[in-house]
Amino acid sequence: MSKIYRISPSILSADFTRLGDEVKRVVAAGADWIHFDVMDNHYVPNLTFGPMICSALKPHAVTSDGRAVPVDVHLMVQPVDALAQAFAQAGADLISFHADASIHVHRSVQAIKASGCKAGLVFNPAASLDVLDWLIEDIDLILIMSVNPGFGGQSFIESALRKIEQARQRIDECGKDIRLEVDGGIKPDNIARVAAAGADTFVAGSAIFGNPDYKAVIAAMRAALKG
Ligand code: DX5
Ligand code: ZN
Repeated sequence: MSKIYRISPSILSADFTRLGDEVKRVVAAGADWIHFDVMDNHYVPNLTFGPMICSALKPHAVTSDGRAVPVDVHLMVQPVDALAQAFAQAGADLISFHADASIHVHRSVQAIKASGCKAGLVFNPAASLDVLDWLIEDIDLILIMSVNPGFGGQSFIESALRKIEQARQRIDECGKDIRLEVDGGIKPDNIARVAAAGADTFVAGSAIFGNPDYKAVIAAMRAALKG
């Protein structure tokens, strides 16, 4: 398993009236990636932002020494392919989609990779990992949902831990360098348990943006991961 942990703050819980500043602030606070939750009011019962907002924010996802911070796009949309291409053009670095939102999952993965982005597959709390039997070697990231997609600020669903363990086992058996990301209800007081189950990448929205001191929350998460 990759020992390098990544924290990917979700701007779903940021102040939408000043998103550019929020991205800058959370990058300055130590964010490894920026998580961008795309909801379409069809696959999920909520509506957020599209590729134009992504391209507007992209120049803000840069550290003070000029290093680009990867934009981690989580598509909660159906159909997948046209928006995935639009986000690739809008500056996404990683694009993940829900396996059950695409009729042709393998084709969607290939299209994302052909656009120059890393491809991820997302699994809802009640979704099976079986599709990985057929394309784990084609993907760069597995994202396990630990809440039902659509809203920030929900409570962590414990059964996600079992699914993280199963995903970790599949990654280890496959031998490819695949990130194992977890999304929903992640906080400084549960992140260590999630890492122990096998996750190496952590999305956190309300835990970070709900606290005025983003740096302190990210530092608390890293300290919990070290401990
Ligand atoms: C939910 C989103 C999450 C959400 C997580 O559909 O995919 O990324 O922002 O928010 P918290 O960390 O508040 O559970
Ligand atoms: Zn997300």
